[in-house]
Amino acid sequence: MNYQIKNICCIGAGYVGGPSMAVIADNCTNTIVNVVDLNQERIDLWNSKDLSNLPIYEPGLKEIIKRRRGKNLFFSTEIKKHISEADMIFISVNTPTKLKGIGAGEAIDLKWVEASSRKISQYAKGKTIVVEKSTLPVRTAETIKNILNSNTKKPNVDSNNQEFYILSNPEFLAEGTAINDLENPDRILIGGDNNNAIQALESIYSNWINKDKIIKTDLWSAELSKLIANAFLAQRISSINSISALCEVTGANIKEVANAIGKDKRIGELFLNSGPGFGGSCFKKDILNLVYICKYYGLHETANYWQQVLEINKWQQERISNLIINKLFGTVVGKRLSILGFSFKKNTNDTRESPAIKICKDLIEEGAKLNIYDPKVKSKVIEKDLNLKESIDFDNNSELGEWRFASNIEESAVDADALIFLTEWEEFRSINWQNISNKMRDPKWIFDTRSIDLSKEAQKFGFNIWMIGEGKNYS
Ligand code: NAD
Ligand code: UGA
Repeated sequence: MNYQIKNICCIGAGYVGGPSMAVIADNCTNTIVNVVDLNQERIDLWNSKDLSNLPIYEPGLKEIIKRRRGKNLFFSTEIKKHISEADMIFISVNTPTKLKGIGAGEAIDLKWVEASSRKISQYAKGKTIVVEKSTLPVRTAETIKNILNSNTKKPNVDSNNQEFYILSNPEFLAEGTAINDLENPDRILIGGDNNNAIQALESIYSNWINKDKIIKTDLWSAELSKLIANAFLAQRISSINSISALCEVTGANIKEVANAIGKDKRIGELFLNSGPGFGGSCFKKDILNLVYICKYYGLHETANYWQQVLEINKWQQERISNLIINKLFGTVVGKRLSILGFSFKKNTNDTRESPAIKICKDLIEEGAKLNIYDPKVKSKVIEKDLNLKESIDFDNNSELGEWRFASNIEESAVDADALIFLTEWEEFRSINWQNISNKMRDPKWIFDTRSIDLSKEAQKFGFNIWMIGEGKNYS
């Protein structure tokens, strides 16, 4: 078997499926790439004429969509058709934490992976390479194999000459830098047990990626490496966040500490920014899954060790809402607070597991009136995340917490006692302090949970400033 991949289908047009297939289409212009999804609304947005309406925001994405859409990149809900035409199928569906049943709250819910595998088993024709792109528990390929081969084993069913080869090719992109990560990845990981299938996938990537960046391994190591990469990244953030609290009480400064330890090559400089805790759709669910797998195999010490990474993350978020309340004289009832940034990091409209959700919920619970501004997150999304309708006007006679969407920083600052920076959007670095400070109530505060470091300018306008991990707060 020597494969030439002419037609790719990707099941799942989400944060991974959309950008990763766009980059493949851009670099393999002779290959047809069809991205399919059950969600008609999402597909319509991918096909929208106005490229500012794409369902996800990623720097550099709309330029690629403009170049390739309608040429060799297509978005559609015609799942059956595109599966049957494809010689390589990526499974890039969501794999969230299970909400009920065995393993609820920890294990991964594989129902979307199973549904995709069943569709492939039903409609694929001839030789097909099936690629796991979603992040999956180790040994999921075994389950997928069983489902895929279920048709070929039935005596009276026309199996369309089906022959399946399974590969694991986890995705390491980070949101906000997805296009750059896909174009210049640190590595491409391909796990499998069939050399021809591995080579076929390698030949796709080698259109733009140097061969020595392509790691080939067995299926189980590839699946597990993805979970472990996320666990190690999250662990770094929990480590630095735990030390941010120690800096605040001892007079040390977390930025100085991070810089000093990061210069040691064995530690490295990246991913050492302390903040309000990690968010995003994956770190928490992947560590919960790791914990679940360890417990399943009786490795309770390993499970407990990784569980602590999540405990610190939860604690960091609670610590921040508590200290905001304490600094504002122990109560925020009826106080207006400006929330700046709601996405889980800059340069994305994604709010999944954003620390802003927990912090805003805590402040609302305490009776605060929040003016929330984010350059890319829509009010409908915030409403869903907070599980609370947006107030049209704040009720000054009510002690209940409320929130309202602000369309810019100035609007969010009106009558506010504090600006609370929860995402590190670039535009927060060029605030007109004169303007903002005139709109606020005294004494006014800045809570900088992202080390944006606004102190030099803002201090001139009489702000009290609290910055994460800064021992100056200690006085
Ligand atoms: P997502 O929720 O944005 O997208 C998944 C899409 O799959 C949805 O649009 C959904 O409608 C679709 N889908 C589900 N079942 C389907 C089916 N049977 N047929 C057709 N479409 C179906 O998820 P995502 O963020 O793109 O993540 C996908 C996977 O990639 C997850 O396993 C995640 O852990 C992993 N991952 C995510 C990121 C990230 O930055 N978001 C990075 C690396 C890996
Ligand atoms: C993360 C990984 O970085 C990707 O490699 C992986 O593919 C992806 O998860 C996934 O599997 O979903 P992502 O969650 O998109 O990517 O973004 P990160 O840049 O990792 O940030 C995650 C969270 O950690 C954010 O809330 C961010 O603000 C926070 N963070 C990150 C810090 O608080 N400090 C840092 O130094 C870095």
